[in-house]
Amino acid sequence: MARTPIICGNWKMNKRPDEAVAFARELAPKVAEFGNVERAVAPTFLALTAVADALRGTALQVAAQDGHWAAEGAYTSEVSVTMLRPYVSYVIIGHSERRAYLNESDENVNRKAKAILAEGLRPIIAVGESLAQNEAGETVEFVRSQVMAALAGISAADMAEVVIAYEPIWAIGTGRSASGELADRIIKSAVRDTVRELYDDAVADSLRIQYGGSVKPGNMEEFMSQPNIDGALVGGASLQVADFTALIEIAARVKG
Ligand code: 13P
Repeated sequence: MARTPIICGNWKMNKRPDEAVAFARELAPKVAEFGNVERAVAPTFLALTAVADALRGTALQVAAQDGHWAAEGAYTSEVSVTMLRPYVSYVIIGHSERRAYLNESDENVNRKAKAILAEGLRPIIAVGESLAQNEAGETVEFVRSQVMAALAGISAADMAEVVIAYEPIWAIGTGRSASGELADRIIKSAVRDTVRELYDDAVADSLRIQYGGSVKPGNMEEFMSQPNIDGALVGGASLQVADFTALIEIAARVKG
């Protein structure tokens, strides 16, 4: 089954609104072609509406880096998925930095996923093991448990809107990426096959799964050549126009 690759730049806590808008304006025409690849950028909340306005009418989509499940209410500092709806197509949830530093739980990731789907948006659900878990041989079991928890109560029909990003924590921002083959193996056994058990072959075979963790122009082809990897969630390399453009070009060439 053909799956449209998706490359999403996660800007994390980088780029002020003026920088973010200038970057988006420079990037959009450079990636205007490549129709067979979805591409998105995820600015900070502070820059999100300005970037969405700057990109309106372009093929570059906007993602949020998080979103609260309640529509509104007494949740100081949070931004709801409902509020995000006019501005974004995707919402990243469960990023390991939020899980590690901000107590993001599997339960909240699941609540957020359901709220995102209920608003007609698409969640990018990030999962991945720590170095200690990896070295202890617990990767598949742990990632599988994250996938199961995140998807609890989500219908097979809604799964068509879900993207899962496998990001081994030890590969994030370290320059130490997993090999393409290893990432593909884990993605298949811990993510795609888990979804196959929870749903069916059709859902599993159409699910888009990204790899994330030190993805750069130099290793992108290796990841995109893998049968189970349908794109990338990119931190550092998404902060440079030339690098991010190259990633999209490579995805279009290899997967197209
Ligand atoms: P890096 O590409 O900087 O390793 O970050 C990956 C990531 O966490 C994307 O969400």
